[in-house]
Amino acid sequence: MKTEYKKLQEELSASPAKWLVTGVAGFIGSNLLETLLKLDQEVVGVDNFSTGFRHNLDQVRELVGDEQWQRFSFMEADIRKLDDCRTACAGMDYVLHQAALGSVPRSIDDPILTNDNNLSGFLNMLVAARDAEVKRFVYAASSSTYGDHPGLPKVEDKIGRPLSPYAVTKYVNELYADVFARTYGFKSIGLRYFNIFGRRQDPAGAYAAVMPKWFSALINGGEIFINGDGETSRDFCYIDNCVQANLLAACAAGEDALNQVYNVAFGERTTLNELFVLIRERVASVVTDAAAREPEYRDFRPGDVRHSLADISKARDLLGYEPQFSVSKGLDQAVAWYVENL
Ligand SMILES: NC(=O)c1ccc[n+]([C@@H]2O[C@H](COP(=O)([O-])OP(=O)(O)OC[C@H]3O[C@@H](n4cnc5c(N)ncnc54)[C@H](O)[C@@H]3O)[C@@H](O)[C@H]2O)c1
Repeated sequence: MKTEYKKLQEELSASPAKWLVTGVAGFIGSNLLETLLKLDQEVVGVDNFSTGFRHNLDQVRELVGDEQWQRFSFMEADIRKLDDCRTACAGMDYVLHQAALGSVPRSIDDPILTNDNNLSGFLNMLVAARDAEVKRFVYAASSSTYGDHPGLPKVEDKIGRPLSPYAVTKYVNELYADVFARTYGFKSIGLRYFNIFGRRQDPAGAYAAVMPKWFSALINGGEIFINGDGETSRDFCYIDNCVQANLLAACAAGEDALNQVYNVAFGERTTLNELFVLIRERVASVVTDAAAREPEYRDFRPGDVRHSLADISKARDLLGYEPQFSVSKGLDQAVAWYVENL
């Protein structure tokens, strides 16, 4: 039987739409771009290259070929400027808003910068998308919104207190989207991403995520750290599952699916110790020296939640979300990309 996602892909190919992807030169944005272009959609992309890269766009260009690339136009622009947001939103059917400064530690180091990008930028995008009368606004929310709520698995309507400035910004995004729905009848969907991983996730810099950092250290050498005892766990989710959730959310037809937030994860918990072994065995099949590498343990990081696991039944029920990639299956894909690209 065809999945909802398969059906949607066929519908979109037969009847292309206009999409705006913000943060298009970043990890998730460039993957959304790749999928949309492969489905012959017209895409406008916005990025200011604060944490994204031209080489991500170049790679998408190579993957899709000239004809599909012609359907893409790139705007180097900043969502902290309302006029840039208005220009980008003009004439769009769907907005997939990804632009933000990720990373809990970055937000602890510089809460004002995080707030400017993640909250003021978000509000600019909401206003611009509302005024442009787009059909749907889908935005990157975050599992960090669960904060100190002890419940597992995480269910959308049970959240705790935020543990970082980053988490505050992502939570207030949801509050603004909700107020825009009630005040202006604006249609949005928030996707609470849980540790997304895969091709084009940046391994460099002080604020890199754990997975690309470990891939890089195992392939090229360099220290491997685990913060805490390694029993911290996460619901790691491969990028293709995240792309699926975005497209389903943008095109969801049911009224009850709108103006909601959804967990986007695979629905399985992996500890950092387990993850390290899974990554090391895959890298070692290509880079034999990696087999003998061991991580160094250091202090827990402030602002990090101890355990994270998503209940994904809401996205399954209301959006038809069926994640195709387990952590193992996603890692098989990711290792090939990292070995080739690092
Ligand atoms: N990767 C994850 O696991 C994860 C988890 C939860 C939420 N998120 C959210 O998903 C979104 C995408 O994250 P990502 O992992 O792809 O990060 P990323 O850093 O690779 O991508 C973000 C992109 O946004 C751009 N950007 C930032 N500020 C901008 C601004 N003011 N104007 C224009 N462009 C700007 C950056 O240059 C970058 O290309 C973010 O909103 C992030 O908070 C990601």
